[in-house]
Amino acid sequence: MSLILGLESSCDDTAAALVTGDRRILAQAVVGQNDAHRPYGGVVPEIAARAHVQILPDLIRHVLAEANTDIAEVDAIAATAGPGLIGGVMVGLLTGKGLALSAGKPLVAVNHLEGHALSPRLVDPDLDFPYLLLLVSGGHCQILEVLGVGDYRRVATTIDDAAGEAFDKAAKLLGLPYPGGPAIEQLAKEGDPGAVPLPRPLVGSGEPHFSFAGLKSAVQRAAASGDHSPADIAASFQQAVVDCLVDRARLALERSDAPTLVVAGGVAANQAIRSALQQLATGSGRRFSVPPGWLCTDNAAMIAWAGAERYERGMVDDLSVPARARWPL
Ligand code: KG4
Ligand code: ZN
Repeated sequence: MSLILGLESSCDDTAAALVTGDRRILAQAVVGQNDAHRPYGGVVPEIAARAHVQILPDLIRHVLAEANTDIAEVDAIAATAGPGLIGGVMVGLLTGKGLALSAGKPLVAVNHLEGHALSPRLVDPDLDFPYLLLLVSGGHCQILEVLGVGDYRRVATTIDDAAGEAFDKAAKLLGLPYPGGPAIEQLAKEGDPGAVPLPRPLVGSGEPHFSFAGLKSAVQRAAASGDHSPADIAASFQQAVVDCLVDRARLALERSDAPTLVVAGGVAANQAIRSALQQLATGSGRRFSVPPGWLCTDNAAMIAWAGAERYERGMVDDLSVPARARWPL
C-alpha cells in the first residue's frame, strides 16, 4: 500500500502528514501562525512565508519519527503547489522537490482546492464519484461537481467575497480576533439569530452563485448603530450565511443527479452550517458527507490523501512544476 508524505504551506498553517492509500493517517501535525498575524487582523504574506521556512523541516522530521519511518519508506512526496500566498507555496513546494530529488521519490504537485475537494474520501470510504461539493474556505466559495480525481465541473462561484472571508471581515467589525469563523461561531451561541435584520444576497436567484459583500456592509451598519449586542449581530450574521449557503446548494442539488452532497473547506468546520446542510441533503433524498472539523481547516493529511489518489492513478509531476498563486480547479 502506498505511503505518501504531504506538505501544506499555502496560507498561515504549516503542516506535514503521512497517509497511506488505504486511508490510514500514520502521523500528522499542523502549526498555526494565528498569534503572529493577529496584531494585523489578517495574514501577512511575508511573515507567513518566513514562518514556513522555520517550521516545516522540523515538522517533517516530527511526522516521520511519530510514524516510526524514514523518507526511504515513502512512495511519493505530495506538496501544495497552489493556489495561495506565493511565498508560502514556494517554501512547501521547493521543500517537496528537495526531498523528492534527494530521496529519489516522485513528486505530486497538489492543488490545495483539490486537497479540500477529496478530503472527505479520506474518512468516508463509501464516498464515490460523482458528488456535489460545496467548497467553503477563506479564499474560495464554490459548488463543484466532483466527477473523478482531477475532473471537476464548476457549478457556482462567488461574485465577490468567499464565505470564510465574510466571517473574517464580520469578526473584525465586531472586534473579534482573527480567524473570524471560530470566534463568530462561539459568540453566536449567546445571541439571537433573528435579532438583526440582515440581507441574504442572491437568495432566490436563478443561478447558484454567491455574494457576501452586501452582508458585510450590513454588519458594519448594525455594529455602528449601537442598537444591537455583538452576540446578536454574530448570531444573525451566521444565520444569514447559513441561509445563503443552503439556498444556493438547494438550487445546485435540483440541477444535479449526484447522489451525495459534500461540504469541505475551513467554513465547513462550523456546526450551524454542517447541520443545516445535513438537513438539506436528507430532505433532498441525498447522502451527506462532511469531514471532521480538523480535516476541514487547512492540514497536510488532505494534501497527502490527494497525493495518494493521484499517485495511485499515475498522476505524478515533473520537478519543473511551477508554484501558482492562482490555480482554479
Ligand atoms: O480552508 P481554510 O483553513 O483555509 C483556506 O484555504 O482558506 O479556511 C479558513 C477559513 C477562514 O476564513 C476561517 O475564518 C474559516 O475558514 N473558518 C470558519 C470556522 N473555522 C474556520 N468559519 C466559520 N466557522 C468556523 N468554525
Ligand atoms: Zn484551505
